[in-house]
Amino acid sequence: MIHEFSAPFSNFVLSLSDAIDIASPDIALHQMRTAFIAWKIARAAGLSEREINNIYLAAIFHDIGALSLEDKTRLHAGQKNIDVNAHCILGEELFTLSSLLRPSARIVRHHHRTWRSWDEPIGNPDVMGAQTVFLADTIERSIQRNEYILHQVDDIRSGIASLAGPIMHEDIVDVFMRISEHEDFWLDMVSPRLYSLLLHHGPFRKNEIFQKDIFSVASIFRHLVDFKSRFTATHSTGVAQCAVMLSRHLGFTDSETTQMEIAGYFHDLGKLAVPNSVLEKPGRLTKREFEIIKQHTYFTYTVLSTIGGLDLIAEWAAFHHEKLDGSGYPFHVRAEKINIGARIMAVADIFTALLENRPYRSGMTLDQIERILSAQVANHALDKLVVDILLDNFKGIAGDVMACQKESETLFEMKFAKIKKQASSAPVA
Ligand SMILES: [Fe+2]
Ligand SMILES: [Fe+2]
Ligand SMILES: [Fe+2]
Repeated sequence: MIHEFSAPFSNFVLSLSDAIDIASPDIALHQMRTAFIAWKIARAAGLSEREINNIYLAAIFHDIGALSLEDKTRLHAGQKNIDVNAHCILGEELFTLSSLLRPSARIVRHHHRTWRSWDEPIGNPDVMGAQTVFLADTIERSIQRNEYILHQVDDIRSGIASLAGPIMHEDIVDVFMRISEHEDFWLDMVSPRLYSLLLHHGPFRKNEIFQKDIFSVASIFRHLVDFKSRFTATHSTGVAQCAVMLSRHLGFTDSETTQMEIAGYFHDLGKLAVPNSVLEKPGRLTKREFEIIKQHTYFTYTVLSTIGGLDLIAEWAAFHHEKLDGSGYPFHVRAEKINIGARIMAVADIFTALLENRPYRSGMTLDQIERILSAQVANHALDKLVVDILLDNFKGIAGDVMACQKESETLFEMKFAKIKKQASSAPVA
């Protein structure tokens, strides 16, 4: 019998949405603000609760297919010379992987589609959803972040009114014009309290999210983190699989092993805050660049540990660069504060990273990896028991890790790399 675990649904999606836009103040809270606007419009349009929830989930992760900070910034700025289709297709692909998000997948696919190009009626919930998120995204991107919001309202409203007809369906624009007459709509949208506002008054505030759905969303976020770069395209997949196998050898229960897998998927979540120019730099990082890298486990921890209910997963995920002698980062916790799950994750992370190619070196042989891990045990960085189990079962674990990575690699090569390549070679509209 598997003991189910759960977390507050609203906090779960808000925290992860926050993580997507954590990389830069220029785009901070873009998903969340878009979700707020879309939610307000959907409610005022009198949609059913199910339709409102699907639109909210689409909006809160709508740019999930824009993988690098560079892509997100270009989209947010509305640059003319980029193909907006790629992130819509990849976003749909990612949404489809989770049964929780699948009903919103088509909305994400079409969140940049103009009204004139639809041949389905607005009464179709997917069309209505896509048009709503399109409008919400356009409004959010119209806001000048360094100007007082109420000074911009007239310009934004007349800009949106001019899109009614061929670009956006008139009825949705009408709903927006109605709700945007009130100052509180705008003040809420840019409020630093928006997270709390949606948490307490927004969708899913009374719902819990359970193990199966937490797992499926974590599984998507692993791709989001990994697919930022070809060099890490299968990293979290490998780490999770290695951690699962080690935890089984150490007698973890089924529920604990599932939590370990989720922690593995999430362990580098904070890398969403690291620009690709640093992640993919060929050669050694400078001290300043390494300081940017060091933020990643801090963000992994703060995003996960503030959801509520996922404390163990947060520690297992975020302590993977801590060392038993306290010389790790960023918390500098020592052996007595590093539990067995976190010790497993640290070993799984190093092991998997050494197996993989990096911009500055190729993947290492099993002999080289064994030498490095043993040295780390001798230096009081890694746990001896965990490393011994890994070394005793080396071939089996390495084989399983690489087999799992192969699946993610196929998804990356066949879908993501291909679509991104097509997008960069597409003629500019
Ligand atoms: Fe977008
Ligand atoms: Fe967007
Ligand atoms: Fe890491």
